[in-house]
Amino acid sequence: MPNLILGIESSCDETAASVVCSGRGILSSVVASQIGTHRKYGGVVPELASREHLRAIVPAVREALERAGAGYGSLSAVAVTEGPGLVGSLLVGLTFAKAICAARGLPLIGVNHIEGHIHAVLIEASAAGTEIAFPALALVASGGHTHLFELPIEGRYRLMGKTRDDAAGEAYDKVAKLLGFGYPGGPLLDALAPHGDANAIRLPFSKMKGNALDFSFSGLKTAMLRWVESRGMEAEIAVRREMLRAARHPTTGEWLAATPAGTLNAIAAFQRVVIEELLRRLDRAAEESGAKAIIVSGGVACNQGLRRAAAGGRFRCPVYFPTPGLSTDNAAMIAAAAQGKFNRGEFADLTLKAKAGLTLA
Ligand code: KG4
Ligand code: ZN
Repeated sequence: MPNLILGIESSCDETAASVVCSGRGILSSVVASQIGTHRKYGGVVPELASREHLRAIVPAVREALERAGAGYGSLSAVAVTEGPGLVGSLLVGLTFAKAICAARGLPLIGVNHIEGHIHAVLIEASAAGTEIAFPALALVASGGHTHLFELPIEGRYRLMGKTRDDAAGEAYDKVAKLLGFGYPGGPLLDALAPHGDANAIRLPFSKMKGNALDFSFSGLKTAMLRWVESRGMEAEIAVRREMLRAARHPTTGEWLAATPAGTLNAIAAFQRVVIEELLRRLDRAAEESGAKAIIVSGGVACNQGLRRAAAGGRFRCPVYFPTPGLSTDNAAMIAAAAQGKFNRGEFADLTLKAKAGLTLA
């Protein structure tokens, strides 16, 4: 029997709702982005995020149901992100999901956001009739996490490595802010990187003591800071900060025109090091685990340079990325990740808590 699960996601700065049929058919996926609110601060401001979620959650859920042609009466369950994330943001989605379940007598399913990101790939593969082979590796790289898992079978996770400081997306966002660009930094630096010469500047790779599959981006970020300081770039950065202060959102072409070749070279070099840091861990983990498939997900999976580098015959097994709309935060991945729990009858009750530091393995 097909079932319909309403997914709700509010862990960071996107308020998202989606209706998914039997864990594989996305009937609707609505994402209300708060980027406009956080852009000028160079990152997500938690208090503002909670307030925006409160404003957006009711219309997002209503629109997801409408687009899916579904009413509350046709749902089988409500799935909601319980963590990890910003506690005030998580609470908004969680409270609304509980209210729907209480009012409509529907089962509630708590979903781990990181498992959701992995399911973004699984749902698309299943819709396309592609079998993902196990053991598989999953790299989840976003603004909040950089985690590498081994999946011996679907639904089992073993943590192989994680970042010891910044997440990959966070490094993009911080470097973008340092250079006077807005938030989020990843998409813009990715668009500018091909215009620079990555060989013009040498930036350091991380040296890990202990687990070689852990990640670190703080050394790279500091090297970028030193590079900026050594060049006296105040005037150039001030121009870009002014562009941000003007109310409208500059285009990539306008940013490009406001960025001299030296800075474009630094952006290209930064992007190359981040991509290599990610892919070298995947190389090594694939070797160690004999992985038959690699899944890359999370906002950083949108990165064009990363996609190109991963597709270049570097890996012996296939590498799967979600389409960009499913790479960044969305609720379809949450509804899809809930399907296994729905099948097993693993429901939460109304005491389900927001868990800011929830882990997957
Ligand atoms: O998955 P996501 O929407 O939210 C979190 O769970 O964090 O990821 C957002 C992050 C931001 O840090 C953003 O800069 C980064 O993903 N990102 C990118 C790209 N697109 C988004 N990073 C590098 N290249 C991109 N094209
Ligand atoms: Zn995420």
